Amino acid sequence: MDSPARALPPSSAPIGEVLVDWFAGAARDLPWRRPDTDPWAVLVSEVMLQQTPVARVEPVWREWVTRWPTPAALAAASPAEVIRAWGKLGYPRRALRLRETAVALTERHGGVVPADVAALEALPGIGTYTARAVACFGHGQPQPVVDTNVRRVVARLVHGRAEAAPARTADLTDVAALAPADPGRAVRFAVAVMELGALVCVARTPRCAACPVRGDCAWRLAGYPASDGPPRRVQRFAGTDRQVRGRLLDVLRAAEGPVAAPELDAAWDDAAQRSRCLDSLVADGLVEQTADGRFTLPA
Ligand code: ADE
Repeated sequence: MDSPARALPPSSAPIGEVLVDWFAGAARDLPWRRPDTDPWAVLVSEVMLQQTPVARVEPVWREWVTRWPTPAALAAASPAEVIRAWGKLGYPRRALRLRETAVALTERHGGVVPADVAALEALPGIGTYTARAVACFGHGQPQPVVDTNVRRVVARLVHGRAEAAPARTADLTDVAALAPADPGRAVRFAVAVMELGALVCVARTPRCAACPVRGDCAWRLAGYPASDGPPRRVQRFAGTDRQVRGRLLDVLRAAEGPVAAPELDAAWDDAAQRSRCLDSLVADGLVEQTADGRFTLPA
C-alpha cells in the first residue's frame, strides 16, 4: 500500500480503458490466453484454474487438451482415465464433472461449446463464473467475468472496502459498468481486471504503488479502512480430509488394478479418518468397491 495522504489525480481515462492499456504491458503469457485457444480448451482451463494456481494447472492443462482436444474425445474417456490424468490438481470431483460436461456437450450440442451464456449455464458443472469466462475468453463475447480476485478489486476500487462481501449478482453489474464500450476492449478488460487482482490488488499485501488505477481507488482515498467482515480463514491442508482423500487416491491411481483395504492403510495412520475419507470418495463416485471388497478407480 502507499500513503493515502499522497494526493494523486484520478486517471484521465475511464478505469476500464486504463486497465486494458496496463494489461497490454503487464499480462502473463498464459497458454490458454493465446488467440488460437478454442472454446473447449478455454473451458478446461477455467475449470482447472478455479481452485488451483496457474503454475500447477499449466502442465496438466497441456496434457488434457492434447489428449482430449474435443468434448467428444473426453466424453469417450473412462472416469478412471480422467481421475488419473487430473493428477494432483486437487478437488478431483472437478475431473468427473468436466467429463459430464463433455458428455452433455456431445449429446446436446453436437460436440460444440455454445457461445450463449444461458446454454453454458445449463450444462452440468458450469456456473455463473465459468459460463461467462467461456463466452468471453473462448468466444470473444464481452461479458462480466467475476471471480474472487475481481470481486476484491471492485470492493476496493469502487466501494472502498478492503475485502469483497460474499458473491452477489450486483457484482456482475459493477464489473459491466467498468467495461469499455468497444467489444474487443471489453473482452480484454475482463481478463485485465482479473490480472490486476492476481498480480497487484492481491489479498494480503496489495502492491498499490504498482497499480495503474490507484488515483481512482475508493479504498485508497478512504485511507485503507480495515475489513469489517469476519477474519479471513487460513486454509489449512495438513491433516484435513482433503489431504487424506488425496493420499488414498494417490494409491489407487498408482495401482494397476483393484487394491485391498490393507494396502490403503499405509496412506494414513488414523483409521477412523481413513475410513471416513474412503467412504466419501465412494459416495462422490471417485472410487468404487469391487464385489470382493477391494477398491478401485471407477471404470
Ligand atoms: N486467463 C483467463 N482466465 C484466467 C483465469 N481464470 N486465471 C488466470 N488467467 C486467466
